[in-house]
Amino acid sequence: MVQKATKMARLSVDGEDSVFELPVYSGTEGQDVINVGSLTSKGYFTYDPGFVSTAACDSEITYIDGDKGILLHRGYPIEQLAEQSNYLELCYLLLNEELPSSAQQAEFVDTIKHHTMVHEQLVHFFRGFRRDAHPMAIMCGVTGALSAFYHDSLDIDNAEHRRITAHRLIAKMPTLAAMSYKYATGQPFIFPRNDLDYAENFLHMMFATPCEDYKVNPVIAKAMDKIFLLHADHEQNASTSTVRLAGSTGANPFACIAAGIAALWGPSHGGANEAVLTMLDEIGDVKNIDKFVAKAKDPDDDFRLMGFGHRVYKNYDPRAKVMQQTCHEVLAELGVEDSPTLKMAQRLEQIALEDEYFVKRRLYPNVDFYSGIILKAIGIPVEMFTVMFATGRTPGWIAHWNEMIGAPYKIGRPRQLYKGHSARDYVPVGKR
Ligand code: CMC
Repeated sequence: MVQKATKMARLSVDGEDSVFELPVYSGTEGQDVINVGSLTSKGYFTYDPGFVSTAACDSEITYIDGDKGILLHRGYPIEQLAEQSNYLELCYLLLNEELPSSAQQAEFVDTIKHHTMVHEQLVHFFRGFRRDAHPMAIMCGVTGALSAFYHDSLDIDNAEHRRITAHRLIAKMPTLAAMSYKYATGQPFIFPRNDLDYAENFLHMMFATPCEDYKVNPVIAKAMDKIFLLHADHEQNASTSTVRLAGSTGANPFACIAAGIAALWGPSHGGANEAVLTMLDEIGDVKNIDKFVAKAKDPDDDFRLMGFGHRVYKNYDPRAKVMQQTCHEVLAELGVEDSPTLKMAQRLEQIALEDEYFVKRRLYPNVDFYSGIILKAIGIPVEMFTVMFATGRTPGWIAHWNEMIGAPYKIGRPRQLYKGHSARDYVPVGKR
């Protein structure tokens, strides 16, 4: 993309002789960026472990203002989308830049519905896993394995192939997710049903058995749709950046999404919703909370309160606000509003909002704090929580991959500050 500098930055390294002029670019929103690409020809790299100040790409998909707690998808605030839209409409928006007309929406929903089944051969991949395999391990494997099934549409330079792949991934992810659960329980896989919507279908594939009718609770289906919607995209987070980095080599999209799933798995990212419940189980009772809060505040203790803090949101996480409300709706519907887990969660939240340690570091409950509680109440096992996140995040990953592949791009190749040995002579083993 051709960039126009809005101003110039001047960098002086060692006195007046080495002043470098670096162009500054402005986006439609957010911080300006300094193009440091020319520094390598001047003998320098930039140094930014964790990419805390590095913009690695242009993007038109999602904007976050972490200080103000703003999250926009294609310009639309997440609160409005959560209130008035639904997950599949957001998928369309992320992939296509604009909200669909009613005809486009109907066509999109129909297309997704008609891609939900997976190839019967894929069932053998599931059978190769141990029954106690973590479902995220299964998801990494079977999503990558999809590359072996769609040779007809793997030309990444063909926009129509990319479109079909996006539809396949969004449609099949809930099927794969439910299959990974059914496999662990030893129950038969349940086929998708075309008379159900996206979230209903997922719940049906998770909880129905061939023995009796399963009726999807509309409150739960709405909450599930909201969980998918709130996770749909979050700009250049670790997993999305992983998808982009893998994609920058020209790797096929299924392999790239499998890489994103692997990156999401960690407890600092998508694994946090699972970690929240594990932590609440470990705390066990409201009376133990102070002890765990003290551990979280102790600089000599690695323990962190899972579900609190965010690299970008330093005010509040707007997704957490919506999720909190959904959490209350679901718990009321299921009649478990006074569960010990919720009581512990509420107490932790109260502490985080009042305690100086958390207030000073601006550590607020994030989206994963509430999503874990809702998922548990719905009956989704804890090991499946990150799979839910991965399912919801799929349109974001694929939209970013598509955005990158659809424009000129370079292979991602960070540099380093080398601190190892300088060149030295090899010594044969007998002389060491
Ligand atoms: N509990 C206790 N202390 C914390 C926590 C926490 N959850 N998070 C950060 N801190 C402290 C940290 O020890 C540090 O203190 P100090 O300045 O005294 O050294 C300070 O706050 C800044 O932390 P940081 O690690 O430099 O912040 P970061 O931006 O690198 O990390 C984070 C962000 C999300 C990885 C971190 O807050 C964390 O580990 N949270 C718990 C895991 C979690 O809930 N992750 C889900 C994120 S939301 C889902 C997603 O988008 O992936």
